[in-house]
Amino acid sequence: MDRIRLATLDDAPAIQSIYAPIVTHSHTSFELEPPTVEEMWRRIEGTLKTLPWLVYDSGGHVLGYAYAGVFRTRPAYQWTVEVSVYVAETARGRGIGRALYESLFACLRVQGHRTAVAGITLPNPTSVRLHERVGFRKVGVFHRVGFKLGAWHDVAWWDLPLQAGPDPPAPPVPLPEIQASRAFQAAPGPAPAGTGKLKPRGAARQEPRPPDTGAIPPPVHPLFVRTCQTIATAGEWPYHGPLASGHGFGGTRKTYARQEESIV
Ligand SMILES: CC(C)(COP(=O)(O)OP(=O)(O)OC[C@H]1O[C@@H](n2cnc3c(N)ncnc32)[C@H](O)[C@@H]1OP(=O)(O)O)[C@@H](O)C(=O)NCCC(=O)NCCS
Repeated sequence: MDRIRLATLDDAPAIQSIYAPIVTHSHTSFELEPPTVEEMWRRIEGTLKTLPWLVYDSGGHVLGYAYAGVFRTRPAYQWTVEVSVYVAETARGRGIGRALYESLFACLRVQGHRTAVAGITLPNPTSVRLHERVGFRKVGVFHRVGFKLGAWHDVAWWDLPLQAGPDPPAPPVPLPEIQASRAFQAAPGPAPAGTGKLKPRGAARQEPRPPDTGAIPPPVHPLFVRTCQTIATAGEWPYHGPLASGHGFGGTRKTYARQEESIV
């Protein structure tokens, strides 16, 4: 059975084994040495104190992960997070990256975050496509800001408005508070087998692309279970309404909840 769930510390070895070859063999990450499993354990633990770290779990095997990190530490930045996603080489091109990102954004909206940003070391056409598909806008490029594997690399920065709301915004709700909520505890268990099927390997690149309407895709992927959609439906946590830019999902929190229900 496939599902997207919050990471646990037991996922550290699988996450490390997805990330290590990317560090060693590509310019994608600007780390020069792969972190150890212990270091990955520490990173997961540190992240989950406030922010989501999700894994794509296929029958007990972790095929990919996505997480949010602090963008900058000055307090006025607290509603903005930096996001990252990694999929095991053998599982790419099946929609896992997109499913992880959409689930992560659902979680971030529930917490009350307003903006996600991402940096992509160039060239990385797959990552650029993924970020475009989930609604990111390209902000600009820092030139020659990293030296790795014998070359200087540019980094493109992207941003995604997550939601609008009343200002001044309430501080984002730390993830453990959401996990401790009644709504989270009552959220449904794993989806029945057969729901949220992935594309066959490679299909993502061959299918004709739907016209780009400029709208952000649905906020919760059907594979994302027992985490955020029920919380949003229960209306216990912040969802402040549509984005002024037209990126919203419609009207009030109640409307949002109805839309959540319709796609789960
Ligand atoms: C980038 C990455 C996370 C994407 O995950 P994925 O599961 O392979 O991507 P998805 O299957 O969800 O596809 C997302 C989009 O990218 C497109 N895509 C997938 N593979 C592609 C490829 N090789 N070339 C071009 N586009 C590609 C898909 O077609 C899809 O777009 P579409 O909806 O228009 O069809 C994954 O390839 C990866 O882990 N790469 C190495 C690490 C990395 O670069 N991480 C991002 C750091 S910024």
